[in-house]
Amino acid sequence: MSLISHLGEVFGSAFQELGLDSEYGKVFPSQRPELGDFQCNGALAAARSARQPPSRLATTVAEMTGTDSRFQSVTAAGPGFVNIKLSDGFLAEWVEDMASDSHLGAPRVSRPLHIVVDYGGPNVAKPMHVGHLRSTIIGDALARIFARVGHRVTRDPHFGDWGTQMGMLIIGVRERFPQLAYFDCNARTFPARSPVSLADLAEMYPQVAAECAASPQLAEQARRATLELQEGRPGYRALWKQMVQVSLESQRADFARLGVEFDLWYGESTVADRVEGMIARMEESGLVTESEGATVVEVAMADDKAPLPPLMLCKSDGAALYATTDLATIEMRVDDLGADSILYVVDARQADHFRGVFRAARLTGLVPPAVGLEHIGFGTMNGPDGRPFRTREGGVVRLGDLIDQVTEAARRRLEENDMAKAYPESERRAVAEAVGLAALKFGDLSTHRASNYVFDPDRFVSFSGKTGPYLQYGVVRIRSLLARAARQGLAPGRLGPPAHPAERRLMLALTLMPEAINRAASERAPHHLAEYCYRVAVGFTRFYDQCHILSEPDPGRRDAWLGLADITGRVLSMLLDILGIDVPDRM
Ligand code: ARG
Repeated sequence: MSLISHLGEVFGSAFQELGLDSEYGKVFPSQRPELGDFQCNGALAAARSARQPPSRLATTVAEMTGTDSRFQSVTAAGPGFVNIKLSDGFLAEWVEDMASDSHLGAPRVSRPLHIVVDYGGPNVAKPMHVGHLRSTIIGDALARIFARVGHRVTRDPHFGDWGTQMGMLIIGVRERFPQLAYFDCNARTFPARSPVSLADLAEMYPQVAAECAASPQLAEQARRATLELQEGRPGYRALWKQMVQVSLESQRADFARLGVEFDLWYGESTVADRVEGMIARMEESGLVTESEGATVVEVAMADDKAPLPPLMLCKSDGAALYATTDLATIEMRVDDLGADSILYVVDARQADHFRGVFRAARLTGLVPPAVGLEHIGFGTMNGPDGRPFRTREGGVVRLGDLIDQVTEAARRRLEENDMAKAYPESERRAVAEAVGLAALKFGDLSTHRASNYVFDPDRFVSFSGKTGPYLQYGVVRIRSLLARAARQGLAPGRLGPPAHPAERRLMLALTLMPEAINRAASERAPHHLAEYCYRVAVGFTRFYDQCHILSEPDPGRRDAWLGLADITGRVLSMLLDILGIDVPDRM
């Protein structure tokens, strides 16, 4: 149990003893640390049912709890606040208990769920670019947070491999290599290797897309090709498989560079065979109708603030769409995987798509009401001009190039700071890559996902301020302190009552870790964890600057300080791991 919940119980019982709801006993970190460590505002809300002025109720509660040895003082203040100051001994014991817990006091859920996190979102033929970055970073952090608190997590990037773009690509390849067997209706054997590389596909796709936009005939051919692919034309299937393959290889490599792994590599096409049956099941709801030859679901509801247009399930030619495969994927995830909850970490600009899809799934009874469906939207990563980040020429920035860019900035910063200087070249490179990734990930996670932020590699790689490298360095410094101590024959000892205000503040900060994790999990916002991590790191820096651990003459105090450094290092490492940030051994 977290310290905050523990205190909530203590104060809750006081309210209960007065015949009031124990909920009034909730405590929060103090807004005014000079007055107390925590505060309870329940008297303000309880006054009415207690038929007492809130300040009198607060005084009563303070008197009831003030003699408890866990507290140094409990005082009523203002219109009805209760300020709580912990006793030093109790605080130290609490943090010591965290240190000896196998999860460092991190929260564990009582009812584990199976959560599918849908993130990353690459598409065939498109090298991963900056648009995939936020989904990958935020999605991965969320998946790690859920796993950490004890949920079962399945990570699936929902590869975009079945829509109209596939038909366009088939047409594009045919334009270049019309003689290949893929396009011959009678052929049954096809080239063993893809005729195109990912680079070819990437170049080709915008070209055919533009041509299709300009030429109705070509668009019609692409439409037909999409349909024939979906219906199973052998040549198209063979070519499609190869295009998927070359795309996947490069995308997997990009994900690997980010340190991100998936449990499944399903795509839109995985559920192709379920579409027909699903539509039949949806029809039982009576909401599936025909509109100009297309099959649609009526998803509007009387009290909708913004009108929701019908969702198209099948085009008039029978081809499936993005929404169709998303719906069939929901069914597959619930029926086959046993998902309790599905989270879609996708650009906020797809909000309407998910609103329609979720509504259709609910109204037609495709998912049991208890299954959660959530779109976890996020804002854009912008360039210095405040618009979505682009190359100097105005093009889309590839993920690989972006990673190179931060790694390069990290390498320069390490050099400027004379860090990693004497290491072998390979280690120097690895450190620069780790620092660059930390900069990139933390730069993203330190902004609330719903907001946009500016990509600023020079600021992100800074070793001071709210950055990934500052946090990494914090952990490295703690580890090297402990290693130095070990060489002197010293080991972390049991924590003692704090002897210095900076030590006390660090202990207090550590006790708040469970709330930071819970909040990040419940709001699906890793930003809260990033923020908390920074707070702990700053707390440690102050403690380290003000309490000279290794030169402390009192051996008991010195060992207790080493103990505090040790638990802080372990908490920070755990949290950075949850954020997907690796810490080099040294730097
Ligand atoms: N591939 C899609 C895109 O690039 C993102 C997929 C998101 N997930 C989903 N189940 N729709 O926009």
